[in-house]
Amino acid sequence: MKAFIFDLDGVIVFTDRYHYLAWKRMADRIGVYFDETINNRLRGVSRAKSLEIILERSEEKRFSDAQKQELMEEKNSYYKELLQSMTPKDVDQEVRETLEVLRRRGYKLAIGSSSKNAGFILERIGLTGVFDAVSDGNLITHSKPNPEVFLKAAELLEVSPVECCVVEDAFAGIDAAKAAGMLAIGIGDAAGYEAADIRIRSLAELKNRNFGGEKSG
Ligand code: BG6
Ligand code: MG
Repeated sequence: MKAFIFDLDGVIVFTDRYHYLAWKRMADRIGVYFDETINNRLRGVSRAKSLEIILERSEEKRFSDAQKQELMEEKNSYYKELLQSMTPKDVDQEVRETLEVLRRRGYKLAIGSSSKNAGFILERIGLTGVFDAVSDGNLITHSKPNPEVFLKAAELLEVSPVECCVVEDAFAGIDAAKAAGMLAIGIGDAAGYEAADIRIRSLAELKNRNFGGEKSG
C-alpha cells in the first residue's frame, strides 16, 4: 500500500450534526417531515441526492430544477453558518497523531469526500496542508457509491488504485472504495458493514497495523 484516502465528514471531523440541523431547518420551513433516522441515509451521498431523499416525504411531488437548486442553496447557507464555528479544536488529537504517523511511515495522504465544502472545512480545522491531495464534490460528476471520487484521489496522488486504503464511515463510501479496487476500512457506522475489508473502532488503530509499503530505517 502506498496511500491512505480519508473520507472527511464522519472520519476526520464530525459534521453530521451540522448537516442534520441545516437540512432540518430547510425541511421545517417547507413543512416536510425530517428526522435523524432519515438523516442517517444522507451519509456519504451528494447534496442533490440528499435533497431527493428528503423530498420523498413531501406531499408536493413536483419541484422544478430551479426550486431544488434554491433549496440546496438554502440548506448550504445554513450549513456554512454552522461550519463557521469550527476550529482546529474540532479535530481529535488521535486523528492528528495518526495522520502524522502515517506520513512519517511514507504513505501519501488524501481526502476523498463527496462534499463541496471540503476545502472550507479543512481550512476551518487547520488541516489544509496535511493532505497531498483533496478529491471532493467539486471534482466529480458521480457521488459515492460511484468510485469516481476515490479514483480521482489516486490519480492526483499518482498511485494506482490497488495501492490505496480508503477509510470510510458510510456504507456508500465502502461500496465506492470496493468499486475502485481499493482496500476498504470501515469506521463508525461502516465498522458494522460486512463489505468492509477491515473494521476499526478508532483511527488510532491504523497505527498498530502494517499495511505494507512502510519506509524502512
Ligand atoms: C458528505 C456527507 O461528506 O458530503 C453527506 O456525508 C453530504 O451527508 C455530502 O450530503 C455533500 O456535502 P456538501 O457539503 O457538498 O453539501
Ligand atoms: Mg462520511
